[in-house]
Amino acid sequence: MWLLTLGVVALISASKACTPSVTTVSGTHAPVTVCSGQLIFADDFVDFDLEKWQHENTLAGGGNWEFQYYNNNRTNSFTNNGLLYIRPSLTSDQFGSAFLHSGRLNIEGGAPADRCTNPQWYGCERVGTPTNILNPIKSARIRTVHSFSFQYGKVEVRAKMPSGDWLWPAIWLMPAYNKYGTWPASGEIDLVESRGNKNMFLNGLHIGTQEAGSTLHYGPFPGLSGWEKAHWVRRNSAGYDTNFHRYQLEWTPDFISFRIDDSEIGRVTPGNGGFWEYGGFNNRPGIHNPWRYGSKMAPFDQKFYLIINLAVGGTNGFFPDGVKNPIPKPWWNNSPMAATDFWNGQGGWLPTWNLNVNDGQDASLQVDYVRVWAL
Ligand SMILES: *[C@@H]1O[C@H](CO)[C@@H](O)[C@H](O)[C@H]1NC(C)=O
Repeated sequence: MWLLTLGVVALISASKACTPSVTTVSGTHAPVTVCSGQLIFADDFVDFDLEKWQHENTLAGGGNWEFQYYNNNRTNSFTNNGLLYIRPSLTSDQFGSAFLHSGRLNIEGGAPADRCTNPQWYGCERVGTPTNILNPIKSARIRTVHSFSFQYGKVEVRAKMPSGDWLWPAIWLMPAYNKYGTWPASGEIDLVESRGNKNMFLNGLHIGTQEAGSTLHYGPFPGLSGWEKAHWVRRNSAGYDTNFHRYQLEWTPDFISFRIDDSEIGRVTPGNGGFWEYGGFNNRPGIHNPWRYGSKMAPFDQKFYLIINLAVGGTNGFFPDGVKNPIPKPWWNNSPMAATDFWNGQGGWLPTWNLNVNDGQDASLQVDYVRVWAL
């Protein structure tokens, strides 16, 4: 009997044996020990767990003068029937439209959960003027910055992209500690980005809802990023807004690979010269390599956290000036009053958002689950 019990115990412990993993984790919701292949973070959005997801609260515009105000408000982010929705709304619904060009918006709050999360680019307080209106759209951006970050692993996010002109959804990762310096020196991993326009073409290619892209950003300073060498798109004639797809990242000490529904869209396997050589930065004299004492994966050899957001517009060229859209793009990317031009063009884009149908589901970024496994 005793022997039998011992045998059973041995069997159980053998099946639970922990093979150590190269994956490392940190954060309030990170597991204490990490075994190879283990599910180390997951959210099925049965409930909206703000212990896992911290809301951004900022007018900053993501560094691209995007037009949204990210806030913690159940109009703009909520879970229902096991799905997370990030839904845009009009700022004027809350404050009136006169407020946009004459109001003062100070979004700094007193509670710990209400603090402004990004003061850069006038992110905590703005004053609207007739030419420079306040952020006309409210939306949400949530992140695991305090709850979970990890170095190496596999990620799968099942999501449905929104439709609606000039909507810019993103599911991505940013470095937790900026070990190699500020952006883009410590890297950025964009698992999926798309554009909500259902009929937008550039040089004959559909670059709206029929395109999804993955990108790495890395470089010694903001003006020099090697993203063009690590950017891939996949086209789907049905549109990424009509069905859920699985967006996948495999991130190892040797390579980074992006997949959609198990089919690879891009992969980087840097050589011994690492991302410095991969980005072609070694050909430029006089620039200091911030990764010279890191591994060949640097800056992608440190912990990153997850971000899910729905942005709108912006002037960085993600929506190029030359696009063909049924109702032309209402702002130029070099306009000093781009947000105002965008707002004045609402007769074109607002009807495409269908905000009054099904609580704005069409224009919402919908996420079924997020899962992260150790290598
Ligand atoms: C949340 O958003 C709605 C819609 O814009 C607005 O009416 C409401 O006042 C907001 N709530 C808070 C607490 O700001």
